[in-house]
Amino acid sequence: MTINNIITVGAQWGDEGKGKIVDFLSAEADWVVRFQGGANAGHTLCVDDKVYKLSLVPSGVIAKKPKLLVGSGVVIDPESMVDEITRLIEAGLSVSPERLRVSAVAGVILPIHKMLDEIRETKGRKIGTTGRGIGPAYEDRVGRRGIRMGDLLDPAGFEASLEALYQHHLPVFAYFGLTPPPMEDTIASMQQIVPRLAPYIEPSPYLMFHAQLNNARVLYEGAQGAMLDVDYGTYPYVTSSSTLPAQALMGGPASWSALDRHEKGPHFYRLGVTKAYSTRVGEGPMPSQLDDAIGESIATKGAEFGTVTGRARRCGWIDLVALRYVARLGGLHGLAVTRLDILDGFEQVGVCVGYEGVPRDCVLDAQVMSQAKPIFRYFEGWDGTANVRHWHLLPKPARKFLEFLAVETSTELALVSTGPTRESTMVLSDVMGAFCRTTNKYE
Ligand code: IMP
Repeated sequence: MTINNIITVGAQWGDEGKGKIVDFLSAEADWVVRFQGGANAGHTLCVDDKVYKLSLVPSGVIAKKPKLLVGSGVVIDPESMVDEITRLIEAGLSVSPERLRVSAVAGVILPIHKMLDEIRETKGRKIGTTGRGIGPAYEDRVGRRGIRMGDLLDPAGFEASLEALYQHHLPVFAYFGLTPPPMEDTIASMQQIVPRLAPYIEPSPYLMFHAQLNNARVLYEGAQGAMLDVDYGTYPYVTSSSTLPAQALMGGPASWSALDRHEKGPHFYRLGVTKAYSTRVGEGPMPSQLDDAIGESIATKGAEFGTVTGRARRCGWIDLVALRYVARLGGLHGLAVTRLDILDGFEQVGVCVGYEGVPRDCVLDAQVMSQAKPIFRYFEGWDGTANVRHWHLLPKPARKFLEFLAVETSTELALVSTGPTRESTMVLSDVMGAFCRTTNKYE
């Protein structure tokens, strides 16, 4: 079955390896679209012996074919966007304005937002943010005082909006006896940066409408993870945007007409990316966390440190209670399971199948999760999955484990990743196979 639209989201707390999966699926895509978040997310991609680090530019940039859209739901730090584009061009990738479009409606992150992020973290409730100014920029956006990418093209209008924005925030700085970054510096740096970004700014919200009307193959790339969703995650220990698949429709935006063409099955396939275990960075509950030698071993083997912040991630067995919740809320059709190889060599592999005394369909808010006592079921361990790319070559216990994840979440196993490279990926779903035109499934 050919489905032209795939929405990929993180199905845990971020860092699931979405970048690698999106790169893998990009080869035959016409568009790859980022639809939320900002440079809080970071991906490391290993392709053809090269390592690429991405923050904002969609992970389809390494594949030659797709065009790229940084959609309206994203917040952008113009300086880091220019740096990223420069680095990618230096690495030999095509990042021309014909290829990369940036929505005029996307929000702008300014130095004042980063400082506000830091103030909130050090003087208010600590969320453990990435410190990139993401939350304050989204707050300004819904507070209707935000600056959008398109506004940068009108210098006088930008300066007036900036002044109003400063006026709004000055009392916070005054309260703590602090001074915001000088407004003149922000204006001067924008004067330098905007001419470089201007050709990328896309005024039309109809880009995807037209593309999808012409049956374009579109891959939507989510950032962070569903358990960090601003509404349904472990609030307030969440990021500031919607991280569930529905956000792709508004944060691209996607064409609703394309969504309607569903006679032959789902026209927007929703793919949840999950590691074979769990990690979380920042504050907030994580019931399956292991504060023991096993947790440490997963962290060491998996090099679980943030791409953007370098912070150590908390590690534990995969949490199926959370994954079921996400599968249901996100309407997931399939799972891409990454980092299976990191679990090689354990005598037993655990799966959190429930929380003591918590009903199966309970709402997983921060309160429930912070008190939850995990119930683990153990599978026989395995070895030797690194870089395996065929289902029948996986050890039987690993296959049993993977099948259990799919059955318990009522999804199909779509992809399994056993290493960082494109080659160490197996395709187990017809939809995925058709989208990236691979026959790997049948090899
Ligand atoms: P913010 O998105 O920087 O505001 O951070 C809010 C929460 O989301 C913190 O717990 C961060 O650690 C977490 N977070 C944000 N981006 C990522 C990511 O890309 N991976 C994992 N956690 C993230």
